[in-house]
Amino acid sequence: MMIEPLPGRLYRAAPGFEDHLEYELGPGREDSGYCVPGGPFFYTAEIPAGPVFWYRNIWLSPIKIEFDSITEAAGALRNIQRNWSSDLFTQFRRGALIQEKLPALSCKRRPFPWLLPESPLGIWTLLDAHRMIASASSASPFPGGIIEFEEDRLGPPSRAYLKLWEALVRCRKWPQPGERCLDAGASPGGWTWALAKLGALVSSVDRAALENGVEKMPGVSFIKHDAFTLRPEEMGPVDWLFCDVICYPSRLCEWIEKWLASGLCRNYICTIKMQGQAMEEGFAAARRLVEIPGSSVVHLYHNKHELTWMRISP
Ligand SMILES: C[S@@+](CC[C@H](N)C(=O)[O-])C[C@H]1O[C@@H](n2cnc3c(N)ncnc32)[C@H](O)[C@@H]1O
Repeated sequence: MMIEPLPGRLYRAAPGFEDHLEYELGPGREDSGYCVPGGPFFYTAEIPAGPVFWYRNIWLSPIKIEFDSITEAAGALRNIQRNWSSDLFTQFRRGALIQEKLPALSCKRRPFPWLLPESPLGIWTLLDAHRMIASASSASPFPGGIIEFEEDRLGPPSRAYLKLWEALVRCRKWPQPGERCLDAGASPGGWTWALAKLGALVSSVDRAALENGVEKMPGVSFIKHDAFTLRPEEMGPVDWLFCDVICYPSRLCEWIEKWLASGLCRNYICTIKMQGQAMEEGFAAARRLVEIPGSSVVHLYHNKHELTWMRISP
């Protein structure tokens, strides 16, 4: 068996957004020999200077392992740490046999909310029958970067609440009963529904109507208004600011900057919509927001052509 640390990082693209990841990483990676052309992985020998957003996961400390048998491969991973998830694009049967020899990870759908464990979760993939790339640390806290919830098919009027749940689980924090939330771009009401279910007091702002059942939930008050012309001082202090407005990314940035300057909110979760925008404007907004101390920008498993900016107070 041979174990060789690799400089740099291995990226798994967010499916459907391989071109965005390629754009962020820049040219010159195909020679690495670690990625199959046209496949989901991108290897960079050097850590990119700028932030990268359009990934499902990143192998942060990659190693290449050459092995003879399935038992040897599983043993090599177990010697490093307990928890591993696979992300296979080839050798599926052999990969499943290796994973079976590792401690089982629960990949079942879960009810929201639950507290994510802090224990490290490694990730590995097979290049061929005798070579794997593994990393003891990865960018996503979810096995393979995937998180599935037990969905509520009756209560919420849209499935948008799934990305909010994912963001909150990722932050390991969610609104508590009685906390004040501003939900901008709230209609038809998926996020408002999820927040009201937590017992929060939700001010939902949208130019379109909130679904009737959601508007009547305890703790919900609806304001029919352009969210961006409501000044923070008019709204007063809130514990959480949520925004899922479809808008130009630069408009979102300006609005967030006003809220930050006001000091009237502690926690933020906002969607940066990319659809229909020149790609560069969306990237520029994501880079502008990620510069804000204590914040992160990610492509959630439940995000479509959009990114999520999060800033949670300690
Ligand atoms: C993607 S939908 C939001 C979905 C919502 N989060 C949910 O869970 O159901 C985007 C919303 O932004 C609203 N919107 C667009 N521009 C707005 C603005 N300037 N102010 C308030 N709402 C706006 C639209 O009316 C639409 O309801």
